[in-house]
Amino acid sequence: RELVVEVQNFSSVVDLIQKSKKILVLTGAGVSVSCGIPDFRSPGGLYDTVRDRFGLEEPQALFDINFFKFNPNPFFTLAKDIFPGGNVVPSLAHRFVRKIETKGQLLRNYTQNIDGLEKMSGIERVIHCHGSFATATCRRCQNQVPGESIREEVLAERIPVCNVCRDRPVEQGEEKPILKPDIVFFGEKLVNAFFDNVNADIENADLMIVMGTSLKVAPVARLPSLLDTKVPRILINREVVGSSSQRFDVELLGNCDEVVKALMDRLDDSSQVTERDES
Ligand code: OAD
Ligand code: ZN
Repeated sequence: RELVVEVQNFSSVVDLIQKSKKILVLTGAGVSVSCGIPDFRSPGGLYDTVRDRFGLEEPQALFDINFFKFNPNPFFTLAKDIFPGGNVVPSLAHRFVRKIETKGQLLRNYTQNIDGLEKMSGIERVIHCHGSFATATCRRCQNQVPGESIREEVLAERIPVCNVCRDRPVEQGEEKPILKPDIVFFGEKLVNAFFDNVNADIENADLMIVMGTSLKVAPVARLPSLLDTKVPRILINREVVGSSSQRFDVELLGNCDEVVKALMDRLDDSSQVTERDES
């Protein structure tokens, strides 16, 4: 793939963002790392913790629906650490996305995160591709409850059980009446909002910004490659990600808050310049 934009310097990246009207932002765990929430795959990340604590060779099993059916204990041992709440506040990277939105330039923020920080930063045009802790569903009778109603149990490291069907004995071949938070596990379908919007958004986007994700998990990881080749794509991440056939037009490598800070400073500057020009 040929590069779409020839970026001479940082200010041409700023110009690109400035003039785009329908920005598709794709985020992952990296945007919340500065908030004190570890990502999954970096050294010392959640998957290292899982490997150490449970001796799981494949730590992704923690979020695998078949493993969960077989043994939900590891997930519920760790769930209290990833249950949203506490004193966590959004990062500059979240606020950057919100700022794009308040300027009317955000087509959508596709996030893979389940920490609830998009909502907390005020982002409205967000799709939680991998679900959230906002609700939980009984594995047996599909009864859905607000996530808040299982918070206490989860924080106490107890497995929350369904009030509707708990007294009915478990028959053979049936799952236990466990309330599983509605985060999307491996082997589960992404949220409907993803499928409802993704085709139109891919069609309409005029810029893509990918931030803080390893792009290792499909189908979200495929979004950059689905865009028309004329649509520029910017990566803001600690490391280069994506396949060589879907390389980014601009790679701003580093901690996303720092990169974003530099961008926001310039965006503020240039909007002042425009205002002065127009007066
Ligand atoms: P990963 O942990 O796979 O990737 C995080 C990426 O962010 C890595 O490329 C890091 O280098 C980068 N990164 C970390 N801290 C950063 C920082 N401060 N600034 C910039 N970049 C930083 O997380 P995701 O890509 O979000 O799914 O993982 C995708 C999915 O895999 C998750 O949604 C989760 C997981 O299994 C489910 O649980 C279903
Ligand atoms: Zn039930």
